[in-house]
Amino acid sequence: MTDAVLPGGFDTISDLRERAEKLLSPEVWAYVEGAAGEEFTVQDNHASFHRWRLRPRALAGIRAVDLRTTLLGASVASPVFVSPTAYQGLVHPAAEVGTARGAGSSGVLAMFSTLSTRSLEEIASATPSGPRWFQLYLQREFRVTRGLVERAEKAGYSALVLTVDAPVLGPRDRQTRDGVAIRSPVPIGNGSEVLSPARAPELRSGLYEFPADASFTWEILAQLREVTRLPLVVKGILTAEDARRAVDGGARAVVVSNHGGRQLDGAMTGLEALPEVAAAVGGRAEVYMDGGVRRGSDVLIALALGARGVGIGRPVLWALAVGGEAGVSRLLSLLNTELAVSMMLAGRRSIAEVDSSLLWPHPDPDKVPSLRNF
Ligand code: FNR
Ligand code: LAC
Repeated sequence: MTDAVLPGGFDTISDLRERAEKLLSPEVWAYVEGAAGEEFTVQDNHASFHRWRLRPRALAGIRAVDLRTTLLGASVASPVFVSPTAYQGLVHPAAEVGTARGAGSSGVLAMFSTLSTRSLEEIASATPSGPRWFQLYLQREFRVTRGLVERAEKAGYSALVLTVDAPVLGPRDRQTRDGVAIRSPVPIGNGSEVLSPARAPELRSGLYEFPADASFTWEILAQLREVTRLPLVVKGILTAEDARRAVDGGARAVVVSNHGGRQLDGAMTGLEALPEVAAAVGGRAEVYMDGGVRRGSDVLIALALGARGVGIGRPVLWALAVGGEAGVSRLLSLLNTELAVSMMLAGRRSIAEVDSSLLWPHPDPDKVPSLRNF
């Protein structure tokens, strides 16, 4: 199942993190790894996976598993997708083009941030066949937002992912302490009109204003639907109430996410919020999650709790840093292989066979140690 030769030069996902830390400057590492406040929520993103145990079924006669599924109608090799992360040029010169190629050749969906180092058109032409979605940060002027949406549609992105959990940036202590990653303004591939926190005048302050106007309400969904035919995905949902607002506003999918613990420290984790969101959505839209996913068995737990797609953020940046495009494909191959092995061990042949009967909630979750070091 695994490749004989290991492109990207790492064997496990935890090796990868160590290698990336050695390669990147302390400032860039603080930006990539950092999270909000005391980083309580980012730690909990990992710990929440350990509160579930799997109930494997034996002698299921499975010689091969099928990881294929669809995300908003796009056929993908696996439910794992690449979550959007900003400024990928900070970690590797190939930047988002490397990520796009690595994900594209793996048949994996990738989402690209408004705050990409390369332009959305350049990213699109790197992988013409996708699947590729554009993550939108609302701009102060709707004219600028509309311009981005029109460009994304023209360049062949097949969905618009509106991130709603960043009216301001979370206070990031590690960045304040260790120096902010971006000492000089990072070029934004999508043009000088796009506002970026990396251009904020006082970068060392832990709390700096996000460029978007924090006065937006759910009305924005209708406004966006007027200017695009692309399906709308809302990212950054943690409650049943907001999931309903999103779906009522026409969202075709929601991403249950706390932004990798980088926004509200103390917020619920994506995994914790997933069951209530899945129940509230009730099949009216697709439900995805991200935050703390590092192993195939994590993906399995998220699927069993109702996610159709499962995103990874930081691991992709580690992989890009270590091996560019080959690093990203290597990471996706490791994770998908682990997912396939976990499914065989759990006695599940296909994604459709993964349901809540696979899970056993730990009766005393406070006693579960989190031993993960990556
Ligand atoms: C992010 N994330 C993010 N989300 C988004 O919607 N737009 C963005 O531009 C960014 N930028 C960004 C930069 C960096 C360095 C990180 C680590 C994260 C959040 C991202 O999409 C995702 O929700 C989390 O990264 C998932 O958690 P893990 O996999 O990093 O634990
Ligand atoms: C971040 C923003 C840019 O998390 O999404 O750094």
